[in-house]
Amino acid sequence: MEELRKTVIKEIFAHGQDQKKVLVKGWVRTKRVSKNVAFIAMNDGSTIHNLQVVVDLADISESNLYDVQTGASIAVTGKLVESKGSGQALELLAEKIEIIGKANPDEYPLQPKKHSLEFLREIAHLRFRTSTFSAITRIRHALIFAIHKFFNDRGFYNIHTPIVTGSDAEGAGDMFRVSVLDPQNPPLDENGRVDFREDFFGKETHLTVSGQLEAELAALAMSKVYTFGPTFRAENSNTSRHLAEFWMIEPEMAFYDIHDNMDLAEEMLKYVIKYALDNCSDDLDFLNKRFLDEEKRKKQEERSEMNLIERLEFVLNNPFERITYTEAFDILKNSKPNKKGKFNYPVETWGMDMQSEHERYLVEKHYKKPVIVTDYPMEIKAFYMKQNDDGKTVRAMDVLFPQIGEIIGGSQREENYDRLMNRINELGIEKETLWWFLETRKYGTVPHSGYGLGFERLMLFVTGMGNIRDVIPFPRTPKNAEF
Ligand code: 4AD
Ligand code: MG
Repeated sequence: MEELRKTVIKEIFAHGQDQKKVLVKGWVRTKRVSKNVAFIAMNDGSTIHNLQVVVDLADISESNLYDVQTGASIAVTGKLVESKGSGQALELLAEKIEIIGKANPDEYPLQPKKHSLEFLREIAHLRFRTSTFSAITRIRHALIFAIHKFFNDRGFYNIHTPIVTGSDAEGAGDMFRVSVLDPQNPPLDENGRVDFREDFFGKETHLTVSGQLEAELAALAMSKVYTFGPTFRAENSNTSRHLAEFWMIEPEMAFYDIHDNMDLAEEMLKYVIKYALDNCSDDLDFLNKRFLDEEKRKKQEERSEMNLIERLEFVLNNPFERITYTEAFDILKNSKPNKKGKFNYPVETWGMDMQSEHERYLVEKHYKKPVIVTDYPMEIKAFYMKQNDDGKTVRAMDVLFPQIGEIIGGSQREENYDRLMNRINELGIEKETLWWFLETRKYGTVPHSGYGLGFERLMLFVTGMGNIRDVIPFPRTPKNAEF
């Protein structure tokens, strides 16, 4: 007898034909048994929608369905028929049900009810099986694909930059050490300090905080490149927007000034948001309902004016506001919350770093749309940013989003060798670990720019989720590296 080939559930809803015989494999979400029939909702991860399997108990007895329990994996052969009640066009009339893997209902942690996100984090190995997390996973994939497509279609080359680095010059945050030395008994140098010359790479190494410096090297030959890799920061920031391991998209472009850089960032964000709206509508509709449920629980004044989909469309349809740090500072200083002492960090002196409460005020209350802030004080930004002629500010650009705050950080780079060297000396940065970076300013230097988009921050915005731990499969945060 000819074996039936497996059909994925998404295919059935897209192109399934009434009366067609199919084989479907997946996991049981729920089972409901009534007098003559049983209904099984099954899902295989291909779509948010469950396939309803209808079992005539005259054909397959109830005792044969004993192991068809929430979480079990099953293979069902049967005929597609037009559905009367499942909310889908088609359902599957079972002829044969095979249990592939049981899930003991007394032990299986996922019950067919709403679980808290906190609980689901504790069972991250199983949360892919929930509607919420599978929707997030599909959107995550779609956004990754959209980002590669965006850059590919515009002539960028993807560069794999190293994960292990011997320079910590970026200064973007504390780093995780990479070492094979025996922590109990490390070799010591003449001064009694750990001798990293004996370590695996012959020097001190860490996990990278950014692929930018290497991307710059590539851009200064390939013109337009981007990296999309994992980055690591050992800051003790236990917030809903920080991870110790996160993914970052870093384009770097030769012959781009800060304005070209801002144009690209805005175009990219709009492109990927549109891609999600066009390609993930089922998942976004599901998350939108979830978002509205969450909103109902908030106090009236904390509820957002737009639902998730409206917010995405709003960002698509409006130009981002572009202002300087100094303009932002003045707005914040004269703002109501600042005058009433409502900010945790009062806005008093020019030069202070902007906190997320300030960023969100600018975006959510003042401009009510995404804002790009440029020309930050030199002292609060990285050494490689291009210095303005005022001697005080650099050509930095941060893109600020509603709910998120900073989603992108970038700048035009200092391409002038002497100015860059001066800044490195002022800051006391070890030149020896950066000789290769400096040489690009000696040989054929050009104006160039780039930025970093935090992928999980983008995910937060697109999915409407409130905590960054829920938009990456296996979050790494302080005191947490399970799974
Ligand atoms: O602003 P950052 O530190 O910039 C850089 O690393 C530059 N090298 C980028 C560049 O110019 N190529 O980080 C860039 C973005 C932030 O805007 C934020 O979205 C995200 O990375 N980010 C984090 N996301 C999650 N968890 C963290 N701990 C993050 N730190 C930064
Ligand atoms: Mg930043």
